[in-house]
Amino acid sequence: MNACAFAVLEEFPDIVFAYGFSDEYSFIFKKDTKFYQRRASKINSLVVSFFTSVYITKWKEFFLQKDLMFHPSFKSRVICCATMEVLQTYILWRQRACHLENLFNTCFWKLIGCGKSQKEAKEMLEGTQKQEKNEILFQQFGVNYKDLPSIFRQGSCAFKTEVEDIVKYKENGAPVKRLRKKIALTHSENVAGRSFWNVHPCLCKELGHFEGDISKINPEYIKSFQFENNLMPSTWIVIRVDGCHFHRFSEVHEFEKPNDEHALNLMNSCAVAVVEEFNDVVFSYGVSDEYSFVLKKNSCFYERHASEIVSAIVSFFSSVYVMKWKLYFAQKEMKYPPYFDGRAVCYPSIDILQDYLAWRQVDCHINNQYNTCFWMLVKSGKSKSEAQNCLKEWRKLTRPHAWHRNKVSKWNINWNAKMLEGNIIGYTKPYCIQGTQTQEKNGLLSCQFGIDYNTLHNHVPPGVLCLLGQGEQDLTEQ
Ligand code: GTP
Ligand code: MG
Repeated sequence: MNACAFAVLEEFPDIVFAYGFSDEYSFIFKKDTKFYQRRASKINSLVVSFFTSVYITKWKEFFLQKDLMFHPSFKSRVICCATMEVLQTYILWRQRACHLENLFNTCFWKLIGCGKSQKEAKEMLEGTQKQEKNEILFQQFGVNYKDLPSIFRQGSCAFKTEVEDIVKYKENGAPVKRLRKKIALTHSENVAGRSFWNVHPCLCKELGHFEGDISKINPEYIKSFQFENNLMPSTWIVIRVDGCHFHRFSEVHEFEKPNDEHALNLMNSCAVAVVEEFNDVVFSYGVSDEYSFVLKKNSCFYERHASEIVSAIVSFFSSVYVMKWKLYFAQKEMKYPPYFDGRAVCYPSIDILQDYLAWRQVDCHINNQYNTCFWMLVKSGKSKSEAQNCLKEWRKLTRPHAWHRNKVSKWNINWNAKMLEGNIIGYTKPYCIQGTQTQEKNGLLSCQFGIDYNTLHNHVPPGVLCLLGQGEQDLTEQ
């Protein structure tokens, strides 16, 4: 967990401080961060996705002898702290939780170790205060709680500090020093105390000082941190997951251009895993580095809390992507952990949901047509900018009519229950845009580059749909 937190601090320059224990970590962005215009869903999903990917990639460093047995994933949320006092209370609250949880767990597992059942151990500890638990540990097991490693008792902090590096020496032998940002990992008894916080210049500069110490936390006040944005009831929730900086990721990993079958199949297998894992996901559609997951209309998944649904799905997706990489790229090392962003949008009618999916598929079609031509031109000897110029006119033709439901000749997805028997992962038929636009484009393709786009579809499908068996019920009812 600490190694993942380290990686997160390195990846996201605006994160200044992190505190974590057990299976949780909190990351604090600098006060005036402009990261993705402070869009909560974007920030939340990127951080949790990256954390998850790093967790999988680092697993073997810490568990040499143990294989990961399933896809671990994390839930996350964004909490805005309007004042330093709120931030301080938040940190104190989390560290209190660490103290309490760890003391309880230490007693619990000691009792189990001496033959008590889980039920008995739970009953023995129920209602006991901190002091009583310390007594049990000391009297029954000779353990002084304070002697246990601080990483267990206090949790861990990772934060950016500035250190002076000697970069060179002048002729007279005097050192030339530069300040360099470094990440420090430490454990402290009271992370929310002035004595810890105010001595670290980076924390004070980027976040602010703690004016005083806090000893009591008002539970109602804490509850207000847990504010959750609920998604509108009786609407279809669509979660769209999209690879972050996949342009670079595909370059570094030398994906086939414009379509890499292995990469696309890896994305598809992640989508299948998501559909299998989350019962309420009834349909998914994906292309390139993105996948949309449709939840059934009356889903109560995480009480329709947006951040929980988005983070759980994006984290699980990332987890599967990294774990399955080797199945699809046996010969390629993953050079760095990829990550995805996620968002939730509600669609109130089946028509609008259909519009959404049509929009994604038309986008897929247009991009695929463009990319196919672009890379054909590049492979035939043109430079990238020459290829771009060649396709400028063609670009103009495609964009304005990119999507409108009435312009779409036929929605290709069969919403009939018959198709939903068993697990179906099928390629959709070539998508067809009516009118002269498509003919002109395809004409352009065939006379300029000798490409018949329609036959191309046999090899490069415009997106993949993935459905999970739902019995005889019509998908539209869900
Ligand atoms: P953000 O999503 O804004 O972070 O940008 P991005 O770099 O991920 O680009 P975007 O999502 O707009 O587009 C996806 C990019 O992934 C494409 O432009 C390609 O560069 C790359 N990509 C996705 N699938 C493939 C593939 O099969 N082969 C290759 N070569 N590249 C792919
Ligand atoms: Mg992307």
